[in-house]
Amino acid sequence: MVQKIALFNHKGGVSKTTTTFNLGWMLASKGKRVILVDSDPQCNLTGMALGEETEDDEARIQEIYNTNSNIKTGLAPAFESQPRAIEAVDCIPVKGRDGLFLLPGHVGFAEYEVTLGIAQELSGSIQALKNLPGSINDLFEKTAAKFNADYMLIDMSPSLGSINQNLLMISDFFLVPTTADFFSVMAIDSLSKVLPRWHSWAKSASSLQILREANYPFPDVDPRFLGTIVQNYRIIRGKETAAFQTWIKKIEEAVSNKLIPILDQNNMLLPNQTYKGQGIQEHFSLAKISNFNSLIALSQEHRTPVYELTPQQLGQTGIVLTNNQGKQEDFRKTFSDLADKIIGLSSESPVYAVSA
Ligand SMILES: Nc1ncnc2c1ncn2[C@@H]1O[C@H](COP(=O)(O)OP(=O)(O)OP(=O)(O)O)[C@@H](O)[C@H]1O
Ligand SMILES: [Mg+2]
Repeated sequence: MVQKIALFNHKGGVSKTTTTFNLGWMLASKGKRVILVDSDPQCNLTGMALGEETEDDEARIQEIYNTNSNIKTGLAPAFESQPRAIEAVDCIPVKGRDGLFLLPGHVGFAEYEVTLGIAQELSGSIQALKNLPGSINDLFEKTAAKFNADYMLIDMSPSLGSINQNLLMISDFFLVPTTADFFSVMAIDSLSKVLPRWHSWAKSASSLQILREANYPFPDVDPRFLGTIVQNYRIIRGKETAAFQTWIKKIEEAVSNKLIPILDQNNMLLPNQTYKGQGIQEHFSLAKISNFNSLIALSQEHRTPVYELTPQQLGQTGIVLTNNQGKQEDFRKTFSDLADKIIGLSSESPVYAVSA
């Protein structure tokens, strides 16, 4: 059975896409079969994972935007009332990593946002809309089955729209990437208000007879919070700088004081001992990921995780190369530990996952 893990924060630029790519690759290198799902119409993940190396930016953009089989073409039977059933997407193998696949995004996926929003509000009463709320789940399950996937990592757009509401509520688990600043504290605060509304919508949707009997039934899932990841803080002599440390602490406080009690009330946590078993503390921070500096541009250029870039790709020699290789090993360990925690947390059967 596939485990669907959403990477969600409606705040933009907190490294959702970058983490999806680096983490997904790491999970695949540990022998898992992983589909990276690009649900963001910006298609950044598709751009990170896809394509031949080329100097021609226009050719690269065309390749990213014009995949034949993607999230939008996959959902078209439901959203464009085509007389055919939803079929699995032809995911694209990610070069250089066996067991890693991309379910490409599409810039036009945003066109379904309004229709889905109406369906999610009114589908209980309008027959013609009943197949929409369950359609994304149907597409993902068929695609996961075709590729025999253990994990789907869903890279979400920075928004609180109906597509994200649907994606989060059909996921088995979710991760919240953050950056160490005031806006992430704000985002944790607003998530504490939004998630209960989404959860209560999902509970009523999955219990409505009209949606249960739809061609694509809306599933009954309680998405479980895995934890937060703090990104991109600067390190000076092995220590976070004081300002970043202050924001990391504030994020941790917002998570433990505001978000966790709300998630607990909504049955969106794993049992306490499951977190403890992975060494996760009460502020639910899974990883702190420092600034990739020059590695990030090379990673994007070569469509390779920061920790996998070869000396040729780094294009460096001598002490510069040695220094960067040291940093790569630190990042490899960070992502390896993160992947191990996620494997440990998600191997808990949701059936037994009642909040302690
Ligand atoms: N640890 C890091 N160190 C340095 N730069 C990073 C790091 N993580 C991400 N970035 C850079 O920060 C920017 C935002 O990252 P990314 O696109 O992954 O965020 P996002 O949350 O997916 O954004 P959006 O909300 O727009 O989808 C990108 O330019 C990325 O290359
Ligand atoms: Mg992104």
